[in-house]
Amino acid sequence: MTETSFYDAVGGEETFRRLVQRFYEGVAEDPVLRPLYPEPDLTGAEDRLRGFLIQYWGGPKTYSEQRGHPRLRMRHMPFVIGETERDAWLRHMRDAVDSLDLPEELETRLWDYLVYAAHSLVNTPT
Ligand code: HEM
Repeated sequence: MTETSFYDAVGGEETFRRLVQRFYEGVAEDPVLRPLYPEPDLTGAEDRLRGFLIQYWGGPKTYSEQRGHPRLRMRHMPFVIGETERDAWLRHMRDAVDSLDLPEELETRLWDYLVYAAHSLVNTPT
């Protein structure tokens, strides 16, 4: 018997595409977060976050084929992430998660992970 992955349960690539697109629409307008992103357009960052989340939740492993091991804490070290940045990130992510209208159980699982991950990436005391 094959178990359905969380990736499939929430609707596969299309769902992660919508999630991350909505999230970066918020980031693009955010005076705290936007300056952290080194590239002039956010398309590359959008591809990387979407690829990572797809892989994390049991979808295709394209992210690691292109980027290697995620090492998220290390990859965030160049950016100052204090509580302010973390909370701004989570605010846009909350809006993006809400926009998906997922069944409650799936939404809670996704959200709890994002909160946990965002807390783990704070690297600057505030
Ligand atoms: C990359 C900020 C939380 C996943 C980045 C980048 C910035 C950033 C500025 C560089 C953009 C780029 O890829 O060019 C933040 C801030 C966070 C946060 C301020 C607040 C806590 C998270 C969380 C996750 C995540 C919670 C995962 C659940 C990623 C991934 C990349 C990335 C996968 C690309 C890594 C790579 O392959 O180079 N983030 N991030 N981030 N972030 Fe975050």
